[in-house]
Amino acid sequence: MLGPYKQQYESFKQNPAQFWLEQAKRLPWYKKPEHAYTQDTDGLYHWFDDGQLNTCFLALDQHVIAGFGEQTALIYDSPVTNTQQKYSYYQLQQEVAKFAGVMQSLGVSKGDRVVIYMPMIPQAVIGMLACARLGAIHSVVFGGFAAHELAIRIDDAKPKLILSASCGVEIDSVIEYKPLIDHAIALANHKIDHCVIYQREQVAATLIPLRDINWDEAMQTATAVEPVPVSGSDPLYILYTSGTTGTPKGVVRENGGHGVAMHYSMETVYGMQPGDVFWAASDIGWVVGHSYIVYAPLIYRCTTILYEGKPVRTPDASAFWRVVEQYQVNALFTAPTAFRAIKKEDPNAEGFKQYNTRSLKRIFLAGERLDPPTYSWLKEKTKLPILDHWWQTETGWAIACNPVGIEELVTKPGSSTVPTPGFDVQILNMQGKQCAPNEQGVVAIKLPLPPGCLPTIWQNTARFKTGYLTQYPGYYLSGDGGYIDDDGYLFIMGRTDDVINVAGHRLSTGEMEEIVASHPAVAECAVFGVTDTLKGQLPMAMIVLKNDFTGSPTDVEQALVQTVRNQIGAIACLKTIVSVERLPKTRSGKILRKNLRQLVDGDELQIPSTIDDAGIFEEINQQLTLR
Ligand code: COA
Ligand code: AMP
Repeated sequence: MLGPYKQQYESFKQNPAQFWLEQAKRLPWYKKPEHAYTQDTDGLYHWFDDGQLNTCFLALDQHVIAGFGEQTALIYDSPVTNTQQKYSYYQLQQEVAKFAGVMQSLGVSKGDRVVIYMPMIPQAVIGMLACARLGAIHSVVFGGFAAHELAIRIDDAKPKLILSASCGVEIDSVIEYKPLIDHAIALANHKIDHCVIYQREQVAATLIPLRDINWDEAMQTATAVEPVPVSGSDPLYILYTSGTTGTPKGVVRENGGHGVAMHYSMETVYGMQPGDVFWAASDIGWVVGHSYIVYAPLIYRCTTILYEGKPVRTPDASAFWRVVEQYQVNALFTAPTAFRAIKKEDPNAEGFKQYNTRSLKRIFLAGERLDPPTYSWLKEKTKLPILDHWWQTETGWAIACNPVGIEELVTKPGSSTVPTPGFDVQILNMQGKQCAPNEQGVVAIKLPLPPGCLPTIWQNTARFKTGYLTQYPGYYLSGDGGYIDDDGYLFIMGRTDDVINVAGHRLSTGEMEEIVASHPAVAECAVFGVTDTLKGQLPMAMIVLKNDFTGSPTDVEQALVQTVRNQIGAIACLKTIVSVERLPKTRSGKILRKNLRQLVDGDELQIPSTIDDAGIFEEINQQLTLR
């Protein structure tokens, strides 16, 4: 007899359309969909395009109408500014409806784009939900990105409006946002109409008359607006993520599939009940923040926590446990790097013992590989289920998980457990044939992807097709390698492309390489990810200076560290740049970045037969040792 998980997985496999139409019935649509998915003329899949709904209504109004207006919707906890604030569903609905009025009066309507560049403050969530209320498409840009990155996104999304705040607050510094925004607007070709700026206590931003609007002042005269019905296939948001080149990819999320997937995942993946307290310790600039700080907990009527702080140094390594006790958190979701940081500062988990964390049922981890030592430490110290799950910005929710809402399966360290119902995960070899159990290959998902996943890349279906669909027709290529064992458990072994994961942040070495290569003294270069005990991976660059360069290599290296920081942002974390005499290449001229990573990590070198001079690695090793 099949267990409950296998039964549910089989029911999805037998009839995906029926499976998801049943789930869709659980949402309050203005017009219920009759079709599950359709394919457009480009062959792209869209879910529930004949349904009509509004995502802000799902997240707020439906709960107020059902009598839960007094329940806490959002808790803002900011150790960096010493602020704590609660919003009930009713209060949040009122704020959002009014802010939607502000945006409407500035000319924003259905289908318009709005860029949100904000720190972790309630106004960021209000801005996102207000866009959803109007049927406008938000594009949140992580506050750690520099002006150049913001400008690239402005040019791609072509927003009417930018929402921002006067500053972000980091552990030891206050980062003024307004100069960054003004710089980004100057760099961008696309011209925006207005910026709405929330003035924080720490810094007063200088507003440009007529263009810039003070958030609080605009709210004083705003009129609340009602949710605007949109089609299930109308976009809710665009979220840019790193690809292998310098141009980020705008992942599109559509309203209907997203609503259904968020609702289903809260129950199935996280085992939540309406009224529970859910805490995703991430940032609204990342997909985890979109899905599990903002939309899913609210759609499912949980209380969500917006935490403007770090796992350590705000003020110490017990910060997470303090939040758990204070707000009676039932589920905590973060990236493994957060626990590596805690473990480093508090190896005996003394902080955990200080607080009453009995409300916490499970800890969920994703964003990067959950390394077995971190898994074991966390399990031993907390005695809680530690659940790894695997997903991507593109999918918006877990492709593989321990489906605790259906059946809590035995965990295996290193595995993100089993495919979530909705995802037909297969391991393919180079020829596109299915691998045998335990055989490593590329991880692919049979089309159509389930609700909530990207239908395409914003304004770039060609890139979507070449990047994800063309290599294995009928499948979505995840970009990760891995295998499925005899029990059907999925093991993700890492990216098969030039994307790296630094402290749970996805970054492109290709983009860094483009910046490094543009320095006038650099003849050629390679940027690759090396292992780091805290952040999982860190980027490292090797450069070859031009023959006629007569200056100091150290000066170039330092200048490049600064340039990458200025162009991408501090989160790029490219701090190690080494000049070498030459780089290893195949006969066809391809730089062997993988071998450079193996060399620096001290792994066994798997040198391809297409290289003429294997001695080059010894030469580089000596140069590294001399430093
Ligand atoms: N705005 C501006 N700058 C930011 C920023 C933001 N929102 N977030 C990070 N930065 C800056 C940091 O201040 C730091 O700058 P510095 O080089 O001048 O010190 C730099 O970017 C690197 O930040 P980070 O990678 O976060 O390193 P850290 O040393 O400050 O903190 C951790 C390390 C592990 C504590 C931190 O990465 C963390 O909390 N990770 C949790 C995982 C997480 O949230 N992942 C997101 C996806 S789930
Ligand atoms: P992002 O789009 O920023 O969420 O990054 C997605 C990538 O992070 C994936 O393609 C994986 O490479 C990696 N990743 C996310 N979650 C996991 C996990 N649980 N285990 C291993 N890798 C993961």
